[in-house]
Amino acid sequence: MLVVKQNQMRQAHELSGFFRFKADRNACSGSEAWENGLVGDVHELAVPGSWNEQARDLHDFFGEGWYEREFTVPDGWQGQRVWLRIGSTAGNARVWLDGHLLGQHRGPHLPFEFELTAYVRYGETQRLSIAVDNTLVHYDLPPGQARSDEDRAAGQCSAKPDVAYDFFPSGGIHRPVWLYTTGAAKIESLQVATNFQGTQGHLHLRTTVCGEGAAELQAVVDGKRYVFPVDQCSVFGECVIENVRLWSPEDPHLYQLELQLVSSKCELLDYYTQAVGVRTIRVEGHSLLLNDQPIFLRGVGKHEDFPVIGKGWMPSCVVRDFDLMRWMGANSFRTTHYPYAEEMLDYADRHGMLVIAETPFVGLKEHLYTDDMLARAQDTIEEMIVRDYNHPSVILWSMANEPNVRSEAGRTFFKGMADKARSMDATRPIMFVAHQWPDNNLGAEFYDMIGVNKYYGWYSDPGDIDGSLQKLIDNLEAFNKEFDCPVMLAEFGADAVAGIHSDPPAMFTEEYQAQTIEKQYNAVKDLPWMVGTHVWAFADFKTQQSYTRVNGNRKGLFTRNRHPKMAAHTVRRLWTGQ
Ligand code: GCU
Repeated sequence: MLVVKQNQMRQAHELSGFFRFKADRNACSGSEAWENGLVGDVHELAVPGSWNEQARDLHDFFGEGWYEREFTVPDGWQGQRVWLRIGSTAGNARVWLDGHLLGQHRGPHLPFEFELTAYVRYGETQRLSIAVDNTLVHYDLPPGQARSDEDRAAGQCSAKPDVAYDFFPSGGIHRPVWLYTTGAAKIESLQVATNFQGTQGHLHLRTTVCGEGAAELQAVVDGKRYVFPVDQCSVFGECVIENVRLWSPEDPHLYQLELQLVSSKCELLDYYTQAVGVRTIRVEGHSLLLNDQPIFLRGVGKHEDFPVIGKGWMPSCVVRDFDLMRWMGANSFRTTHYPYAEEMLDYADRHGMLVIAETPFVGLKEHLYTDDMLARAQDTIEEMIVRDYNHPSVILWSMANEPNVRSEAGRTFFKGMADKARSMDATRPIMFVAHQWPDNNLGAEFYDMIGVNKYYGWYSDPGDIDGSLQKLIDNLEAFNKEFDCPVMLAEFGADAVAGIHSDPPAMFTEEYQAQTIEKQYNAVKDLPWMVGTHVWAFADFKTQQSYTRVNGNRKGLFTRNRHPKMAAHTVRRLWTGQ
């Protein structure tokens, strides 16, 4: 999906800011037709942001929240097509304009848009209503509840809320909301694949256009203009860049690709620009090659998680996190455990951070491996790859985190996801992130690379870092031998409550976390088939309440407020020598 642009052919106006909000605690929004206006017990909340963090009485609300605000489309936009684009909602959304249902979108963390043109009253005040359903259900992708209603009724519940994954299920409109315009004919999608031979770079363009009158697409890059005919609604073309400057973490060079959609009478119909980084990424043997050179991924697993903002998009928080990842010497992160804001991937493109882009499929269990769920998973994979295909920083697609796959139905499910990802993108490897050996990994054979999450010295062999190092090595080697592919230690670490110290180091102290990471990193980093280690986690983050969490998950190298623990300094020394 293209991003919002403001240029000579496109207007844009951001609607983020304050919205009226009402929690539908009694399932009456339908009978009371809340799309006709919110009345009664109404909050005023900030968008982007999680409602749970903004109001005390919304912290534990996991249902359908209604947002509402007024806006006016300027007279000057008459004659153009008008669109509403929502960066993401958690979870499923339904959208109305002046009480007219525009449509709905299923699933969190990915953008969606609706055309408003037919319903716009230029220069007049109109009402936007967005219902966001964050009800936690067991049969969902990802599963919102760890257990079925029956199991919970039987008392099987160990957390509040009882989610199947280790992060707080925040609800809200988490990314920016935009109005924007296009002409009657527009560039609808753009995919730019890159490769190089010697010093010559190649951009392979696949574009779709919609609307009448488009005759050709003109592309300008590196000072050269190309003219491609519009065939039906598709355009395919190739651009060549001599003496190409490849994109890499050390030199994240971006070329500006300009696209002009032109009619047969040479009228400009649409204009769009795209930053392009020329690079290749592939698995060869037991190595991960960026621009034909082996790379080792030093980095972290993260969350979109900040005090007060929750999962809301906040540029200054992204700048802070990148600054600290760079300070440690990290070259990569995984978007654990869902697609992050596209603006963050733009930032990674510009600042040379490698990204493992992950689907929202965390904590999958056997009850979800049905044909219907596979179809839904494939739809989400398509949305994610369509959104993120053009980011040079994105080097791997991670299809799921720590699934439980023991049945043939599960194997079929994971093959179906792998096939979908490969059909959408032949230019990037795909990864399976495992957590148990030897069972539970059916379907991993269809993937190019295995990520392994292991917590020796914590969940297993608690307190015994030295005594479990060989077990860690053996476990990782088993995956390499079983699947004959590169392996990365995708998660490892220990909880440390900042300020807690002991000698000798004991669990939950800063010393123990630092020693766990240092000893395990040094034990595995030189294994010949090891292509990376990601510490879990970048920063402490909000989770459900349980006896295993200390006001959240404390495995962060930094506190939730981004203050370094001893382990952050240890990792900086390991990765930079400083
Ligand atoms: C798992 C999981 C993480 C979780 C971590 C932990 O590996 O992938 O999401 O936070 O374990 O228990 O700390």
